[in-house]
Amino acid sequence: MRSDAGRSPAAPQASPAEAALAVVDVCKSFGHVQALTDVSLSAYPGQVLALFGDNGAGKSTLMKIMCGALQPDTGTIRVGDYEAPGLSIQRAQSLGIQAVYQDLSLAPHLMVLENMFLGHELYRSRWPGFLHVLDRRRMAMETVEALERISIRLPSVHVPVMKLSGGQRQAVAVARAVRWARRAVLMDEPTAALGRVQSDLVVDTIRATARANLAVVVVSHDIPRMLEVADQVAVMRHGRIVAHGSAADFTLARIVGLMVGEESRTAPRDER
Ligand SMILES: Nc1ncnc2c1ncn2[C@@H]1O[C@H](COP(=O)(O)OP(=O)(O)O)[C@@H](O)[C@H]1O
Ligand SMILES: [Mg+2]
Repeated sequence: MRSDAGRSPAAPQASPAEAALAVVDVCKSFGHVQALTDVSLSAYPGQVLALFGDNGAGKSTLMKIMCGALQPDTGTIRVGDYEAPGLSIQRAQSLGIQAVYQDLSLAPHLMVLENMFLGHELYRSRWPGFLHVLDRRRMAMETVEALERISIRLPSVHVPVMKLSGGQRQAVAVARAVRWARRAVLMDEPTAALGRVQSDLVVDTIRATARANLAVVVVSHDIPRMLEVADQVAVMRHGRIVAHGSAADFTLARIVGLMVGEESRTAPRDER
């Protein structure tokens, strides 16, 4: 049994007005499966919010609602002054929210710089009637800058993405999200299927993303590694947030206890 009666634990410190992105009392079901029940969660600029939960807890559903890939059945989403019952992907992007998907949605045969500007290509002439020429020099320069912004160094931005390691690819996907995000970057399992060294690279990019004053929401099974970078922690179980607070108040044992429903034995109180 959960100890906090389930409804919308309040955001721990800052007021909702300061959140970069907030969901309030969100419910979502798929047929008979209640994927999310009364979920309220806020992400703050410059902070990493780590979201933990067992398989099927509702983490990906929540992330998809926050990036506009799914609409909630009930509840509200707030992004800055914008408040609505849901977002489209286009709306989320125009509000400055970018997601890094598990399949990365990079085009493997295209170069790093082409991937960085996929759908945002820069042209040297925008005059109607003239030939539009891709401004590759500027795109290359801006790609290097975008990578540097999150401390990534690649041998070249002119190599096809498929020549990169898994960690480098993940870093490029994050760099692209950071390049186009103005408020929040959402990452669902960014270290899944990566080795230790490559995961370290991704963790560094998460840290650097928050330093760029973006809100970062990250879902991961790698609890110890995420605790190294998280400012806030939220734990989900059976579609509900069962605990939410400052990362300093969470240990691996407490998080695992909350995930499997033993929180009353591992922590004195979840609500503050
Ligand atoms: N498109 C879908 N259709 C039907 N059920 C879904 C769909 N997406 C998720 N679910 C169900 O919703 C619940 C939460 O899933 P999900 O958000 O993917 O959990 P998590 O990411 O925490 O593993 C699970 O029971 C899952 O089977
Ligand atoms: Mg998932």
